[in-house]
Amino acid sequence: MAITPEILIPRLGDILVEQKKITVDQLQQALEYQKQCRLKGKSPLIGEIIVELGMLGQDTLNQSITQQILVLQTNLHNANETLENKVKERTAELEIAYKKLSELTQLKANFISNISHELRTPLTHINGYVDLLLSEVPPTLSLEQRNSLEVIKRASTRLEQLIDNLILFSTSETNKLTIIKEPVDPTLIIEDAYERNLAAAEKKSIILSKSISITSTSLFTDRSKITWVLSQLIENAIKFTNPGGKVMIGLKENLDNFYFEVKDTGIGFDPNQFDEIFELFHQLDGSSTRAQGGTGLGLALVKNILKAHGSNITVQSKPGKGSTFSFILAKI
Ligand SMILES: Nc1ncnc2c1ncn2[C@@H]1O[C@H](COP(=O)(O)OP(=O)(O)OP(=O)(O)O)[C@@H](O)[C@H]1O
Ligand SMILES: [Mg+2]
Repeated sequence: MAITPEILIPRLGDILVEQKKITVDQLQQALEYQKQCRLKGKSPLIGEIIVELGMLGQDTLNQSITQQILVLQTNLHNANETLENKVKERTAELEIAYKKLSELTQLKANFISNISHELRTPLTHINGYVDLLLSEVPPTLSLEQRNSLEVIKRASTRLEQLIDNLILFSTSETNKLTIIKEPVDPTLIIEDAYERNLAAAEKKSIILSKSISITSTSLFTDRSKITWVLSQLIENAIKFTNPGGKVMIGLKENLDNFYFEVKDTGIGFDPNQFDEIFELFHQLDGSSTRAQGGTGLGLALVKNILKAHGSNITVQSKPGKGSTFSFILAKI
């Protein structure tokens, strides 16, 4: 096909009729001629044919084509302008929606925070009085009464933990998470988290071990929050490992960082679920009949706390083989 301005104009014949440069009959005649040419293996453009048949001079055709190109250009320009305005409108709408969403997130976090504090107060009373009853000297309670009180105590302690997690979560979501850093020997963090979880591991016949291979002790961090993070990872490892399995806590270092690790021989999970497990209230086994308790808050909080420390959590896992959760904290 010849490269001429005509190729830019679709349906040139109709346009020439509209511009009253040729008649409908002339167009029919030209189209018929074009058909004949095609049968002979040639493919001239309709404009060329119109000139060839002497219906229009080349100059008049060129004028019509240029005029049409100008029309198309104006249309394109207008379409662009409309599109730009649409984009602006949509951006403004998105900005409003984002603002609303942020407000709702804030509202949700405030709600969780308020309700958690309200729940905590009566629970503190329950716990206090249960402690008082249990510590009565001389003991006046029967064995059965004491057992019942201990069940209440365990349940309310668990509730207290859940509420504390909710409070911690709501503060971390509203960026009100206060990180109070202090110089701390990272070995102490490992020891602390180990002690907190030893009884639970033993109860489930899981071997909890720790391996510390560091020489430097120069860590500057929020000791209680990092201990909490490590403890959550150990708690999960114990929870998702069957009796007879192992949970190993590791601490290593290089020149710049300490490397914390919790490794288990538990049930593991699929690598394409790595993102899911850090989502709030998300548990891989979400069924009401699931074997393990919990609310799915732990890892969401772990992630927020590490983020506030400029760190993040790394995970490796294989279904049926076990999981490894690790994070890095920079040395002072
Ligand atoms: N070590 C692990 N092995 C296998 N699955 C795990 C492990 N750690 C976490 N998961 C999966 O990730 C999910 C989310 O963990 P997360 O700690 O946030 O919640 P949870 O332990 O179920 O509840 P909570 O921490 O609030 O008590 C778990 O429900 C589990 O499905
Ligand atoms: Mg957990």
